[in-house]
Amino acid sequence: MQESVIFSSGLVDYHYHSSFAALKDIAAGRDVVIITDENLARLYPGYFSPYETLVIAAGEASKSLDVVGQLLSQLIANEATRKTLIVGAGGGVVTDIAGFVAATYMRGVAFGFVPTSLLAMVDAAVGGKNGVDVGQHKNMVGTITQPEFLLYDGELLQTLPAQEWSNGFAEIIKYASIFDVPLFEELSRRNVAFYRADKNALDALIKRCVHWKNKTVVEDEREQGSRKLLNFGHTAGHAIETVHQLPHGYAISIGMLIACRLSEHILGLDPEVRYRLENMLQQYGLPIKQHIDMIAVMDILKIDKKRRGVEIDYILLEQLGNAGIYPLPFEIIEKALEGYESDN
Ligand SMILES: NC(=O)c1ccc[n+]([C@@H]2O[C@H](COP(=O)([O-])OP(=O)(O)OC[C@H]3O[C@@H](n4cnc5c(N)ncnc54)[C@H](O)[C@@H]3O)[C@@H](O)[C@H]2O)c1
Ligand SMILES: [Zn+2]
Repeated sequence: MQESVIFSSGLVDYHYHSSFAALKDIAAGRDVVIITDENLARLYPGYFSPYETLVIAAGEASKSLDVVGQLLSQLIANEATRKTLIVGAGGGVVTDIAGFVAATYMRGVAFGFVPTSLLAMVDAAVGGKNGVDVGQHKNMVGTITQPEFLLYDGELLQTLPAQEWSNGFAEIIKYASIFDVPLFEELSRRNVAFYRADKNALDALIKRCVHWKNKTVVEDEREQGSRKLLNFGHTAGHAIETVHQLPHGYAISIGMLIACRLSEHILGLDPEVRYRLENMLQQYGLPIKQHIDMIAVMDILKIDKKRRGVEIDYILLEQLGNAGIYPLPFEIIEKALEGYESDN
């Protein structure tokens, strides 16, 4: 099933319920270079063998300018041209780096994604933002360029490790918390095992999340306003991810709980929302407690991209299903982190 979403830069084709093999038709007649990681290259060698394939080490450490430099050199060595189609086939690390490399190689060549992790399917591969980390700073350098297509092959999820399912669900729970109360109710009645066993329910869930992300991105592609809502849980979350070396979704889980505490303090949000969120996060295998190194986390927040002077744009919940952007002074954020730390 193919659907197109219109962005200011043109159409992006979503090939749902498809298979990796369909890449042959989508890319017919074009020179393809696949970028993937070593785990996927090992698990699916037959998928990649018909194409020129560049393999990066698995894990967040690959999202660096060093690896970008190596990939650009390999493209030059392979004589990739402006007509080359770059395909990022992997989790969010691969799609972020492949999108960034494609958007900058020869000032930009066409690219598409085959997201292979749940997190990449519902979030990282969607929306056109791609970037790499610089030292301790997540996604500090990047591009906003839409891919030509996304190809969804649900079978790939068969090999996804349990922890990565939980990671993906952190973003799904995020969409439900900020946009979609009925989805929040649905998730609270189910769990990872349910969605793993029910392909139709999982497909519907993925499409619903892609819808929320695209709706937000189409309204605000360059993140001047409403796209910032997608950062719910990500402000403290990113800093905690870096300092404590947590998987992305695990850190976002903690970040969402901190954002709820701030929402209680600033907006009078009913603490019941946080208790429901805690239960749901646990139900999906996500952590709700984490020791926080306050000094290191605050140091990172102070150079956050969302910083404005002595304040930082924080995403708070007005109520379940409704979020807003609130500039908050650092002291208030620091207090919320202290409150979280002392309660845990
Ligand atoms: N650009 C964006 O808008 C955006 C949004 C959200 C997250 N991100 C980024 O995405 C990254 C996280 O994405 P992720 O969680 O997919 O990380 P990841 O790419 O590191 O994948 C997680 C792990 O799962 C493995 N894996 C992926 N698919 C697999 C499969 N089908 N079978 C077996 N193993 C598989 C990978 O090899 C890796 O070890 C972070 O860097 C984050 O910053 C970007
Ligand atoms: Zn995220």
